[in-house]
Amino acid sequence: MHSLVIFGASGDLTSRKLIPALYNLFLKKRLPQPIHIVGFSRTPMDDEIWRNKLLETTRQFAGNTFCENSWNALAPFIHYHTGDIGNPDSFTSLAALLDQLEQNQSENGKQTDVTESHRLFYLSTAPQFYGSVAEQLGVAGLSTESSERTSRIVIEKPFGTDLESAQNLNEKIHRQFKESQVYRIDHYLGKETVNNVLVLRFANTIFEPIWNRNYIQNIQITANEDILVGRRASYYETAGILRDMFQNHLLQILTFVTMEPPARFDAKAIRDEKVKVLQSIRPLTEEETLQNSVRGQYRSYRDEPGVAKGSQTATYGAVRLFIDNWRWKDVPVFLRSGKGMACRSTQIVINFRQPPHSMFADKASNLPLQGNRLLLQLQPAEGIQVHFMTKIPDTDMKIRPSELNFNFKNSFSGEMPDSYERLLLDAMNGDASLFARSDEVETAWRIIDPIQKTWDGGKMQDPEFYETGSTGPTQADRWMESFGQNWFDLCPIV
Ligand code: BG6
Repeated sequence: MHSLVIFGASGDLTSRKLIPALYNLFLKKRLPQPIHIVGFSRTPMDDEIWRNKLLETTRQFAGNTFCENSWNALAPFIHYHTGDIGNPDSFTSLAALLDQLEQNQSENGKQTDVTESHRLFYLSTAPQFYGSVAEQLGVAGLSTESSERTSRIVIEKPFGTDLESAQNLNEKIHRQFKESQVYRIDHYLGKETVNNVLVLRFANTIFEPIWNRNYIQNIQITANEDILVGRRASYYETAGILRDMFQNHLLQILTFVTMEPPARFDAKAIRDEKVKVLQSIRPLTEEETLQNSVRGQYRSYRDEPGVAKGSQTATYGAVRLFIDNWRWKDVPVFLRSGKGMACRSTQIVINFRQPPHSMFADKASNLPLQGNRLLLQLQPAEGIQVHFMTKIPDTDMKIRPSELNFNFKNSFSGEMPDSYERLLLDAMNGDASLFARSDEVETAWRIIDPIQKTWDGGKMQDPEFYETGSTGPTQADRWMESFGQNWFDLCPIV
């Protein structure tokens, strides 16, 4: 018997992502059964009103798989509990509701073993309430586990706004929940193409021997978006690009690209390796941050509703990091993300070293030799490309780069599932491999905090304005050139 309680039930995430993901899991017959989904929010509603609202939003957001009959089969398992996060009575009544739903199920249940109950509490509230929800759950006895009952808590990002607040939040949560009960979500880890990085590296033999400083010249990880900040200004003004995209998504991708091979696909083995590589990243001093980062702001950002006129919040950032271990010593890792860019493109570029000697270069070649490049396109056009040099036919020895191209769409049928499907299912089944552990989140803040501090201090140049729809601040290109590098930019063809 599974119960999933969503705090912040009337919010955007619930209607756009969580319920459509649960619906799709139900459709694919992967949703654990029996299950009750309970929405918890202050807005007064009853089950019927909430189900009707969700019917409309799920129709809109579940993709073209939506079918009203299947929805009607799922809807009776969806309930609503009007409650106030600040009021302990709301949690006592929630506990009573869960007992009652499980009791009814147990009386009606025929084929399933309903003596076991698995409860998952999903915190999709405003982040300042995470600590108090965890506390109230504990006070109401809802964090307690037994041989018949599991209790898990899923926490949305952002997990803190710096190291100190993340540590405080961890401490607050750990007063009620053991670490093994806590699932810190980063939706990038549920993306199929991000998981495929692990498969590419650890299910193939051809990449591992060259996956190190001897062959790789630099790594570029980009998460560019064409969307603007829009209605999210009140959050974004306090976050900015570093907290919003670097501390979580970009560093998580970086761990998948650079960690040592875990021995098993399990939560401990994977997360141990991720923490190890994060701990090997050299933190940047103020002086180093000035040299190793650039920031920008799209020109119309200050006109967004809720943005301060003289706002210095960065909507674009690029950072050069080094991983001080045997595999990666002296290999620069460039992370970059921006809003209002020419296109949406999340990609990993592995630039290999140039051949040590060229017998072609001085003779007939019309291009200098390039190192090979492996391009992992994570979204929106999911695929992998290998760039390598080829002889141009019918020339003496002219050469130029060519591509080997793999595309998920051509090789597999069906839509890519939304990352919340995978992550919700894993959390319900108690698999924390794709969730961040407390030490992982804190280590990531240890890397980001000093950079943010320098950006907020007086020494850093103001963020350079860039036009929306461009490739970002021109300074970012010059900065890259100063290291003898170029960004590899590609607007994916979907
Ligand atoms: C969120 C950020 O975590 O990720 C947003 O808060 C960003 O600012 C979003 O737009 C990007 O996610 P995706 O899945 O669209 O790449």
